[in-house]
Amino acid sequence: MSVTADVIVDLQYGDCGKGKVAHYLSHKNFYTHVLRYNGGCNAGHTIFHKGKKFVTHHIPAGVFFGVKSIIGSGCVLDPVQFFREINMLEKSGVTMKGKIFVAENTHVITSANKAEDRKKGGKIGTTGRGNGPAYRDKYGRTGTRAVDIPKLRPYLVDLYKEWYGSKKPVHILAEGAQGFGLDIDWGDYPYVTSSHCTTAGALLNGLPPSAVHNVWGVAKIYETYVGSKKFQPTGAVFNAIAETGEEYGSTTGRRRQTNWMNMQTLERAIRMNGVTHIVFNKIDVLRTVGRWSIIDKDNVRNFKNEKAMTNFVTERLKTLGIPKSRVFFSESKERI
Ligand code: IMP
Ligand code: MG
Repeated sequence: MSVTADVIVDLQYGDCGKGKVAHYLSHKNFYTHVLRYNGGCNAGHTIFHKGKKFVTHHIPAGVFFGVKSIIGSGCVLDPVQFFREINMLEKSGVTMKGKIFVAENTHVITSANKAEDRKKGGKIGTTGRGNGPAYRDKYGRTGTRAVDIPKLRPYLVDLYKEWYGSKKPVHILAEGAQGFGLDIDWGDYPYVTSSHCTTAGALLNGLPPSAVHNVWGVAKIYETYVGSKKFQPTGAVFNAIAETGEEYGSTTGRRRQTNWMNMQTLERAIRMNGVTHIVFNKIDVLRTVGRWSIIDKDNVRNFKNEKAMTNFVTERLKTLGIPKSRVFFSESKERI
């Protein structure tokens, strides 16, 4: 039977608003599955649903629309956090039964992994959620898989059967975590996370390249980064952006550093991820701050107004094969 996938990938350093795009796309009732394809509970998904704010770390946006949601083999799972989120969402009236599953070959984050990360992760400023040590154990072949945890049994699926065992067509919305700038191979090593945040990372969950149709790249109209390296330039405007944009990590509460959007790193991310559609979030923040600038070819380029800047970006995207009709500038927490 046929298997197709649309991928949502963050083009910067995480926190660009993938959850909102997932929420928007899964609303269309087209997808049979939502797949989280990388990362652990280092991720923080902020979702506004029916006027209420939800923060999840493991559970993908699909559950809000009753779409079958799977934490894939490219992820690492903390069972304690997993059950905590299920309880939290159930209490808020979001039905979980029969909606959330875990691939049986997904690796597990152990309490030893978490303790180690809290102790040693400070150097690069990890979230302390055990992500790095869990992936190390996986690749060192000393890890524990979901299939080995009795409490997870009712939630397990075999991705092969899930994708290829169905009599009906399978349409997957593959939702990434973190972002291209944090990718283990293409991010600013060692200031990276330990998983594959790219479109390629989605394929690691049992999907062939030919299954991928649309790739939704998600960026912010300015950049943010949270971690140990120095990222934010001097200038009061960057603090103003952070305050206006409420740029505090949803996992650790740390203040995110900010900078203008960098066109060269964006282009690299667009090419390497095969982006077909792109959403720029938080236009409203720059509108409030009243400054329109980007970094292009190592120089800050200032624009006189919003229109001048969005036109410039749209023209540049055309040269990368993304037409204007597939570029979205979003100014709302709930809509794209
Ligand atoms: P780790 O993923 O916890 O190992 O942290 C590695 C780096 O990735 C640190 O700079 C974290 O702040 C950053 N990071 C991890 N997950 C996220 C995320 O979901 N959003 C933004 N930054 C993240
Ligand atoms: Mg986040």
